Amino acid sequence: DLEALEQAFQQRIDGGEKIEPQDWMPEAYRRTLQRQMAQHAHSEYVGMLPEGAWITRAPSLSRKCILLAKVQDEAGHAQYLYSALESLGLSREQAYGQLLAGEAKYLNIFNYPALSWADVGMIGWLTDGAAIVNQVPLSRCSYGPYARAMVRICQEESFHHRQGFDLVRRLAEGTPAQRRMAQDALNRWWWPTVMVFGPPDEDSVHSQRSMRWGVKLYSNDTLRQKFVDQTVPQVLHLGLTVPDPDLRFNPDTGHYEIGRIDWDEFNRVIRGQGLCNRERIASRRRSWDEGAWVREAAACHAVKLAAGPQG
Ligand code: ACO
Repeated sequence: DLEALEQAFQQRIDGGEKIEPQDWMPEAYRRTLQRQMAQHAHSEYVGMLPEGAWITRAPSLSRKCILLAKVQDEAGHAQYLYSALESLGLSREQAYGQLLAGEAKYLNIFNYPALSWADVGMIGWLTDGAAIVNQVPLSRCSYGPYARAMVRICQEESFHHRQGFDLVRRLAEGTPAQRRMAQDALNRWWWPTVMVFGPPDEDSVHSQRSMRWGVKLYSNDTLRQKFVDQTVPQVLHLGLTVPDPDLRFNPDTGHYEIGRIDWDEFNRVIRGQGLCNRERIASRRRSWDEGAWVREAAACHAVKLAAGPQG
């Protein structure tokens, strides 16, 4: 019966076994994964936009090559995740349709504009730094296809993180105007990045169940703290300032304590009222429409191939 199946399922998870697509799973486990993985895939896909806008304006050929490679990587991450989602019975068309219809969530951070070249550095250093903290544990999550997709994604994110740090370091070591540009970008990206880890544990509706199922390995606040502890020393090393007057190091706990997070802003942004929400979805819709001829040509080619050499 269902209860026995659910117990056996939980035992497999507690024993560290991976759940594979052909295995029995509770409907709610499937739906939780579909929700989280779809949001994750959309985040990668929308995440190409703020940086993509800087490809034509990169200040040197090598920075342009790095940025091109990075933005392409993000598209690849979305592809792995949409493929992993198919293994749960959610087709690409369905998942992507939800994004284009404006019904799906994706990370808050991608609804902020990239106003200067320093913002490109902040996205790599801070946002991808946060993504690594969140995603390394996901490579040990209970669903096999999701966990395996994370391995390569995390390796690529490490490169993104380093190039972002390197870009910001060059600005921080540059002219006073360059340092000001870096500090201004840090001021704008710090808090939205701290919010990336999701609402505080007491308000995180999904955490408890997702942690029991091994879909999440650590709580939102635990990962946020890890990010803060590893990033504040980097900010200080660069001679920049964290835009948080309440930030302090607690020698008793060995952790940095941060000021109040503006959760009203977070909720506004994830409900669709951020600075760029409309523009992001409009841009994805435009790409979908403009790419119709590629999809048609690929479908035609597939029919010809299937018909054989005479077809
Ligand atoms: N941006 C937008 N929405 C968010 C965010 C965020 N940063 N954090 C939480 N939310 C949403 C959740 O999706 C959920 O909404 P829903 O019920 O409509 O689905 C709601 O806020 C409540 O949050 P939680 O209960 O804490 O949700 P959950 O347990 O799913 O945890 C988290 C949120 C940590 C983001 C989790 O889903 C996760 O780890 N996702 C995968 C990581 C990811 O998406 N990475 C993208 C990287 S993109 C890049 O690197 C370019």
